[in-house]
Amino acid sequence: MEELKSIQWFPGHMTKTRRKIESQLKLIDAVAVLLDARVPYASCNPDLNSIINNKPRIVVLNKCDMADSNETKRWLSVLKANHITAIALDCKTGKGLNAFIPAVKSLLSDRIRAWEAKGMTGRTIKVMVVGIPNVGKSSFINRMAKQSRAKVADKPGVTRGNQWFTIGKGFELLDTPGVLWPKFDDPSVGEKLAYIGSVKDDILDTEHLAGRLLEYLRDNAAVPLCSRYKLDSSAIADLQGYAILELIGRKRGMLISGGEIDTERAAATVLDEFRSATLGKITLDKAEEHQNVRI
Ligand code: G4P
Repeated sequence: MEELKSIQWFPGHMTKTRRKIESQLKLIDAVAVLLDARVPYASCNPDLNSIINNKPRIVVLNKCDMADSNETKRWLSVLKANHITAIALDCKTGKGLNAFIPAVKSLLSDRIRAWEAKGMTGRTIKVMVVGIPNVGKSSFINRMAKQSRAKVADKPGVTRGNQWFTIGKGFELLDTPGVLWPKFDDPSVGEKLAYIGSVKDDILDTEHLAGRLLEYLRDNAAVPLCSRYKLDSSAIADLQGYAILELIGRKRGMLISGGEIDTERAAATVLDEFRSATLGKITLDKAEEHQNVRI
């Protein structure tokens, strides 16, 4: 997509993040990698592995309230088959949050046994949250912290400014997340991130974006698309995205003076309804296309 070429991945951002995360690695036992359950592939930073080195990691598929639940199950199976610990949850209702601490303990079970063998029974487990902007890092940290309502003060001797939340007995979460930047090398990654609203709309042509999304939905999620906008699937089979957008605008009575269709308004509606899952719970990255996923 033309305009996405201007939203290049900024090496400067990533260098800053890399330094920040690397400086904290020695303080933590595991990394929670937040991904958006609708785009687990597009929301993953491909450099993550080299940044967090050998730290044990747990993948959290967040926003699963907006994803196709069968597809989320398939993603969990694929991740498991690749020996990646993963859970699915949503920070909106809090569903699935209780599974987080047990899953991290299970991920670290060998280490916990080794600590116990050295007499360090009950040693505090510390976890850092990382993820691309808008994936729900703050929501996740706030939710987990609210459950326990305890904030640990700055610890002397530990990097200044670090705050920790006790989120369970002997379990702490670093309160500042690591912001990762997505990579737009693969144009379909940038496009999917724009569809879900992770790329600021003010630098995008929203009519073009909505048109591309409509073509994608027509080819991959025709049932919810046609039912939401009362479209005939055979009538839109060969249409360009912009023509589908016009059709939706007309059906919704979105007209401007002179009887022209307000395609800008129609585009905003389509994008809004897709992003809020009003259009349906739709997963854009299919697990079966990422059988050998690496995180
Ligand atoms: P970030 O720190 O990774 O940048 O993300 P943040 O927590 O700020 O979340 C980004 C947006 O995603 C917020 O919406 C937040 O409410 C929403 N969100 C986070 N987790 C979930 C989830 O599991 N399900 C759903 N449906 N939404 C989630 P916002 O519109 O930007 O802010 P607000 O209206 O909630 O204040």
